[in-house]
Amino acid sequence: MSEVVISGLSYTYPKAARPSLQQVSLKLENGAFAALTGFNGSGKTTLCLAIAGAVPHYFGGAMAGQVVIGGFKTAETGICELADIVGLVMQDYESQLVTLTVEEEVAFGLENRGVERPELTRRVQEALAMVGLSGKERQQTAALSGGQKQRLAIASVLAAKPKILVLDEPTSALDPEGAAELYELLYRLNQEHGLTILVAEHDLSLALPYASQFILLADGRVAVDGTPADVLRYMGANRQYACSLPPLWQLKLGLETHFSCFGDWKTDEEASEELSRRLDSREDGKSA
Ligand SMILES: Nc1ncnc2c1ncn2[C@@H]1O[C@H](COP(=O)(O)OP(=O)(O)O)[C@@H](O)[C@H]1O
Ligand SMILES: [Mg+2]
Repeated sequence: MSEVVISGLSYTYPKAARPSLQQVSLKLENGAFAALTGFNGSGKTTLCLAIAGAVPHYFGGAMAGQVVIGGFKTAETGICELADIVGLVMQDYESQLVTLTVEEEVAFGLENRGVERPELTRRVQEALAMVGLSGKERQQTAALSGGQKQRLAIASVLAAKPKILVLDEPTSALDPEGAAELYELLYRLNQEHGLTILVAEHDLSLALPYASQFILLADGRVAVDGTPADVLRYMGANRQYACSLPPLWQLKLGLETHFSCFGDWKTDEEASEELSRRLDSREDGKSA
């Protein structure tokens, strides 16, 4: 089943001269791990907001086409109901944190929805466990590290038990180690908890080992939507994306102009294994 179905979505912010999304159609299957990429201004944030229903519910503006999540049309569904289906973690996740302690933060949205104890306590515990923040219930939010604050923002949306988690450029404020840890967490949520994940990401190397689908936006339109290899090959064939390609793929596509297919590497380890295997077999050939 498709968890997210977007058909012919065009959207213009109030007072904007031109649309930020134009004729966007795409699907995320149940259990997909999708990475959304594209240059600044290509519409990634707007598409995240549209999937979560904040566009058009909070922003107003003019929307055509439709977004259906978990079977519900966002335009016809209340924002609270939508939050039970899709959780959105904004790029500036610190601004999403509104209370003093870790446990209050996760409980906040649930209290607003009228969830009562002991269900509330159970959901808070579960959400904190899912992001690895168990034991930090009484800590001050302000005392958490950047990576922990982000995990808290994720726990706060997970407490509503959504099926879909949307994150807008979640690694932009993290160091490389924090970014790698975040992707491991997202992969665990995807594999162990069955969450469908969409992550807007400019650094495709981070998403490549985990993503089942890549979507490239250009100027508010879907330029390519497919497997990571489909999208990376498209980017490799279009000069303006040469610098955005993961270094491994720059090497791979470069090698493929001289040699036949060089395998579907996803990690540095896989790449170096394949290269040494190829070099070994060349050595064997020489000595034979
Ligand atoms: N609140 C807004 N009002 C008007 N235009 C906006 C607003 N937010 C974004 N835009 C415009 O929409 C387009 C897409 O922006 P955005 O979705 O933020 O792209 P990205 O996240 O890929 O950088 C850009 O041209 C941007 O200037
Ligand atoms: Mg953005």
